[in-house]
Amino acid sequence: MQAIRLRHPAGLDQLELVDLPDPGQPGAGEIRVRLHASSLNYHDLAVVSGYMPADDGRIPMSDGAGVVEAVGPGVSEFAPGDHVVSTFFPTWLNGDPPIADFSTTPGDGVDGYARELVVAPWTAFTRAPQGYSHAEAATLTTAGLTAWRALVVNGGLRAGDTVLVLGTGGVSVFALQIAKAMGATVIATSSSDEKLERARQLGADHLVNYRREENWGERVRELTHGRGVDHVVEVGGPGTLAQSITATRIGGHIALIGVLTGLGGQVPTAALMARQQRLQGLIVGSRQHQIDLVRAVEATGIKPVIDKSFALPEIAEAFKLQRSGGHFGKIVLEF
Ligand SMILES: NC(=O)c1ccc[n+]([C@@H]2O[C@H](COP(=O)([O-])OP(=O)(O)OC[C@H]3O[C@@H](n4cnc5c(N)ncnc54)[C@H](OP(=O)(O)O)[C@@H]3O)[C@@H](O)[C@H]2O)c1
Repeated sequence: MQAIRLRHPAGLDQLELVDLPDPGQPGAGEIRVRLHASSLNYHDLAVVSGYMPADDGRIPMSDGAGVVEAVGPGVSEFAPGDHVVSTFFPTWLNGDPPIADFSTTPGDGVDGYARELVVAPWTAFTRAPQGYSHAEAATLTTAGLTAWRALVVNGGLRAGDTVLVLGTGGVSVFALQIAKAMGATVIATSSSDEKLERARQLGADHLVNYRREENWGERVRELTHGRGVDHVVEVGGPGTLAQSITATRIGGHIALIGVLTGLGGQVPTAALMARQQRLQGLIVGSRQHQIDLVRAVEATGIKPVIDKSFALPEIAEAFKLQRSGGHFGKIVLEF
């Protein structure tokens, strides 16, 4: 089978197409999956660029979708022919998060899904949504589930709420779609007017160019007539958090998920306290959260926005597009 291995020292020119032995038949509690797609996340970019160290020879990519070819003894959840999608935390099945690192995450602490075949515990996959292509399904593992958990699981999103999404990458566009499907008002920001227009076409109610509007937090608050938004999907981190606090209503929820502007910095803690906001860090979600997300996208008809698709050997080109910030929504690999 074809696969990609990341050589040391990591870098986009160190992604090597290799031929690996067939992984064989599944043992007890395992399934054999023929993978057909993966999707790119900022986390994958950090691994293949060497910002997040991974072992020499690591198979990258956290997201994988494909078809079950065989099931091992004791597996009743899946049958050959089922369309499935991988989970970000293969051992976090439900309940409270048991893990605070990426040691079990495919494509980081363990081999990922830039390969054609895998044999894995059945718990490392869920059913894919009906009517989804493999590429669409592959966008759920990381980006889709993070947006879902931020807004619905931990945010308790309700119809009528107002949601702020920052930029138009994979997580933010998913958050926009989930929020609209659930009856929320959405304020979208971007560095690009062209991308804001695409956000409008997806239902965004208010648009803010964060390059032109330096004080975009104030602008967002104005757009809510001074009240502030109920939820922020905070993908920026230290460089955006202060303005997100300004943009959020008293008692609102800020899901701190991203590091686009860095790994640490100053937080206006007094403003956060005075505005009595809930600031929550989170990483993706559990297998049960993903099952709930699959049900929700089937019921609402949400289809992920795929900007561009690449073949497996073109993986470095795909990451170059992501690194340039030229995409809107998701970039995928199909094989
Ligand atoms: N904690 C978690 O579970 C989790 C899960 C997934 C992702 N993340 C994190 O969330 C972030 C986004 O991930 P992704 O996979 O969606 O990335 P992505 O698809 O590569 O998104 C990049 C986009 O972010 C926007 N952006 C960049 N700098 C910005 C800034 N200063 N302010 C506002 N928007 C900015 C840009 O949108 P425009 O071009 O429209 O300006 C850019 O195109 C990353 O930091 C990633 O590590 C965390």
